[in-house]
Amino acid sequence: MAKLTIEGGHQLSGEIKISGAKNSAVALLPAAILAKEKSTIFNVPEIRDIEYLIDIMNLLDCKVTHKNDALIIDNTNLQNKPIPEELSVQMRASYYFMGALLAKFGRVEMSFPGGCNIGARPIDIHIKGFEELGAHVEIIKNRYIITANKLVGKRIYFDFPSVGATINIMLAATGAYGTTIIENAATEPEIVNVASFLINMGIEVRGAGTKKIEIVGTKETKNGIVEVFPDRIETGTFVIMGALIGKDLRIKGIIKEHNEALFMKLDEIGVKYQIDEDVMTISKCENLKATNIKTLVFPGFPTDLQQPITTLLTQADGKSIIEETIYENRFKNTYDLNRMGAQTNILTLNKLEIKGPRKLVGAKVIATDLRGGASLLIAGLIAEGTTEIENSEYIQRGYSNLVTKLTNVGAKIEITE
Ligand code: UD1
Repeated sequence: MAKLTIEGGHQLSGEIKISGAKNSAVALLPAAILAKEKSTIFNVPEIRDIEYLIDIMNLLDCKVTHKNDALIIDNTNLQNKPIPEELSVQMRASYYFMGALLAKFGRVEMSFPGGCNIGARPIDIHIKGFEELGAHVEIIKNRYIITANKLVGKRIYFDFPSVGATINIMLAATGAYGTTIIENAATEPEIVNVASFLINMGIEVRGAGTKKIEIVGTKETKNGIVEVFPDRIETGTFVIMGALIGKDLRIKGIIKEHNEALFMKLDEIGVKYQIDEDVMTISKCENLKATNIKTLVFPGFPTDLQQPITTLLTQADGKSIIEETIYENRFKNTYDLNRMGAQTNILTLNKLEIKGPRKLVGAKVIATDLRGGASLLIAGLIAEGTTEIENSEYIQRGYSNLVTKLTNVGAKIEITE
């Protein structure tokens, strides 16, 4: 168990560089199985999920080497083996081995994936997609066994534009005969990042980033090379910190189009910032105004920034309402926020009311999930006194070199194991 200790009230000044996106990187590693032999993935974040994925790749006899911020993956000796529970439950993204191994070998055996406890998080859309491509899916105890003599491309409609299912079916479809068309696909930037990797390997993928994606299956792939996009959720988290306690804080690695919904909401709240090319400069803003936010699939407001922005809204004047439409259990952070002095109130299962501005005071709190932990971290940075966050390993799952990055810009933050 790790603990973050934060002494609140220290201005953040200097430059923070955004790392590669967790949710892209965790899909790009399993996708590397599909390359002819070698892949190079640049700008890989240093987070636990990547270490767990490398463990799975090692188990499958893939050779993974680090070179600066890049990973070089050699799948020449790749073997198809069951992925055991102790590896699969470490993260949600282990499910991308389903699509990748199914495309490569026509068979996958793995235990249930894990991930943050923020709702039921079923994977029925992935499973239905595999079945539509011709796979047979068996669930024995807590193991999925997915087999296909032959995968055949098909037009598949998603009942919900799931990020994970879109990527997983794209991966599986690379091994299918003919063309697969995904209708009502997710449009998140991570999907474009994965598609660009597949295209670089010589696989025909069209329409990624729109609601209709076409994939032409092939076994004739080339070696692959790709750069992980900057993490839009890490970006948003640091931008929120900058609005609350920055002093000319420079955030490098901004892709404006990836965070449009956040920036529009910040405008409504009265946050002032300047963007020059990929650098944002932001300072603490006064007279923040309450607003209403509804989480939606991309390009709507991302659910992964819902908890971080809740902390910002505790400092805004008036009553804000947040409606969470993606997950059913994503307000657990508000219990501890209230203990620190916030005034939030869960109105219904997916509606939260926040009244501000409220002065926050340091407290001993517990991170219950990744982004909930981030919201407490932001609170700790602006609170009077010291905040201790237990279970902080949740937070480090999503933020590369978090303590070093924050210390370098003036935060007083320490981690103890
Ligand atoms: C990904 C991100 C996560 C982010 C989420 C939504 C990764 C590793 N994680 O998660 O950080 O919060 O997108 O932007 O990329 N659903 C089903 N059946 C399915 C699949 C999903 O009911 O088969 C539901 C989920 O329970 C959830 C919603 O659809 O309520 C969104 O899920 P999805 O878009 O699949 O998110 P993930 O890929 O799990």
